[in-house]
Amino acid sequence: MAAQIEMDANLAEYVTRMSLRDDEILADLRAETARFPVAHAMLVMPEEAQFIALLATTVRAESVLEIGTFTGYTTLCLARVVGPGGRVVTCDISEPWTRIASRYWARAGVDDRIDLRIGDAVETLATIVETDGPECFDLVFVDADKERSVHYYEQAVALTRPGGLIVLDNTLFFGRVVDPAAQDAATVAIRELNQVVRADTRVEASMLSIGDGVTIARKRDR
Ligand SMILES: C[S@@+](CC[C@H](N)C(=O)[O-])C[C@H]1O[C@@H](n2cnc3c(N)ncnc32)[C@H](O)[C@@H]1O
Repeated sequence: MAAQIEMDANLAEYVTRMSLRDDEILADLRAETARFPVAHAMLVMPEEAQFIALLATTVRAESVLEIGTFTGYTTLCLARVVGPGGRVVTCDISEPWTRIASRYWARAGVDDRIDLRIGDAVETLATIVETDGPECFDLVFVDADKERSVHYYEQAVALTRPGGLIVLDNTLFFGRVVDPAAQDAATVAIRELNQVVRADTRVEASMLSIGDGVTIARKRDR
């Protein structure tokens, strides 16, 4: 049986070089975000954002929801692939981070297809369920406060159309999921999320060990 190969810095750099389709706008956004110490934990890995955009293309996504915008890196990748008639709804509790995001979306010429909602994601999602109804997104990317991961997952399943995808970030949570000493609320919530997805017959799902762990769930057709 094949096993996961060890990923050292050299091999990781090779993967980036062979895989990442970069441009000046994305590189500048990464560089500006990297000036903030939290970027190390918050900013999505560029290869992962590219991969999520590829998934969106694969399901011909025109309507995408992101929970947790930060400086808008994945939002930008998604907005590029939904096309001019598409929309990306993205939500975050922080105005300062998303102000950075907005500048780059405008520079990339995709700001007209991005609908940014500022506020607590729990309330934003409740509003979306009310105004747009269930199953209105082709893909939902969950990447906000980890303590409420199970709630966001449940909302994501409700808001995703049959055949659509739910992408969950940080499902390995810096490796803490397998550390019995890690009992903080976020780690406990991620462990619970992983159990919920594992047992959920509404979806087919796979956990990938790229980045900090990414789980992809496809909502079953009825
Ligand atoms: C890991 S970052 C998101 C990274 C982003 N998806 C990207 O591609 O770079 C998590 C974000 O969730 C936001 N957040 C934290 N708690 C939140 C809440 N209760 N409601 C909405 N957003 C929240 C934070 O402000 C932060 O910007």
